[in-house]
Amino acid sequence: MSPLSDLGLRRYPDDPRDRFRAWDAADEYLLDELGEPQGTVVVFGDRWGALTTALAAFDPVQITDSYLTQQATRANAARLGLGEPRLLSVLDAPPPRVDTLLVRIPKSLALLEDQLVRLAPSVHSGTRIVGTGMVKEIHTSTLALFEKILGPTRTSLAVRKARLIFTEPRPSQATSRFPVSYSHEGMELVNHAGVFCADRLDIGTRFFLKHLPETRKGQRVVDLGCGNGIVGAFVLRDNPDAEVLFVDESHAAVASARANVRGPAEFLVGDGLAEAEPGSADLVLCNPPFHEHQAVTDATAWRMFTQARRALRPGGELRIVGNRHLGYHAKLKRLFGNSAVVAGDPKFVVVSAVKSR
Ligand SMILES: C[S@@+](CC[C@H](N)C(=O)[O-])C[C@H]1O[C@@H](n2cnc3c(N)ncnc32)[C@H](O)[C@@H]1O
Repeated sequence: MSPLSDLGLRRYPDDPRDRFRAWDAADEYLLDELGEPQGTVVVFGDRWGALTTALAAFDPVQITDSYLTQQATRANAARLGLGEPRLLSVLDAPPPRVDTLLVRIPKSLALLEDQLVRLAPSVHSGTRIVGTGMVKEIHTSTLALFEKILGPTRTSLAVRKARLIFTEPRPSQATSRFPVSYSHEGMELVNHAGVFCADRLDIGTRFFLKHLPETRKGQRVVDLGCGNGIVGAFVLRDNPDAEVLFVDESHAAVASARANVRGPAEFLVGDGLAEAEPGSADLVLCNPPFHEHQAVTDATAWRMFTQARRALRPGGELRIVGNRHLGYHAKLKRLFGNSAVVAGDPKFVVVSAVKSR
């Protein structure tokens, strides 16, 4: 197996200004320890396809919630002239028998829990299970999940701030507690594991819902980064004649939105509005993310705002909510040439920007 540094791996979208690598010490530690994996190999939680690509000779099945991970994996495989990778989403049925299970610890403990439960029936007494993550990503609660769902678990020494997890499988009776649901203002919301604010509504979202613009019949609205779809669902509750597109890069999010929205609407798993027709939207609503995996960054928010501007018709509006300290008001002003704070409290602001005619 070649060292990861020799593979020329890239993140997705492939931004030349991107100073981040597409792999880290946790991926390297796992590959060093693994040697030649046996039988059906499953990789869960790979971030940019580093593990899946490095192990391509063993034809691994990748399971992920993220469309961006899938695109990165496809692009990395294509760059290296490898075949089409085998990609499953977290909601697909896993392979019926798994002989080597590799887990890159995801940010969401709920997603890890649900996926280990889904994989448990495919694991047998001879399955080799190895988890990996940076030390700061592996907590007592992470190890407790492996122990409870799959079997006795120990960890390795830390190497370059990464750690491995080894589990001896034993028969499991674990069942998933997902999807979960809660209600907000009489609206029942279904949430698959790992979806943003799966257990209760986020306070930023709550604030945003109070300051949505009025919409007209036939208005083309985008719920950008829809999570469980509550923002677009509120638009449709007040105006069932709006045409709403729900888009998120998380498969679990879009599946949750589908479950939560009654009536006709469009749903897309994708990189925001990257593929949208210019001028195809009248209104874009967005509560942007401020991390990517474990890293805090506004790169995704900025990309979403840029995509929104392109997708809006002249005179169309982007309305967002964000933490006050993130300075979105100034950022939107830079991008659109205008922006206005519609509402604010000590923590959040709702900002509107209009595409010039
Ligand atoms: C802060 S959450 C907001 C969720 C929901 N709109 C709400 O307000 O409760 C941000 C959402 O953006 C999604 N997201 C992150 N990167 C994305 C991208 N490139 N394209 C589409 N959605 C993305 C995340 O999966 C997450 O669901």
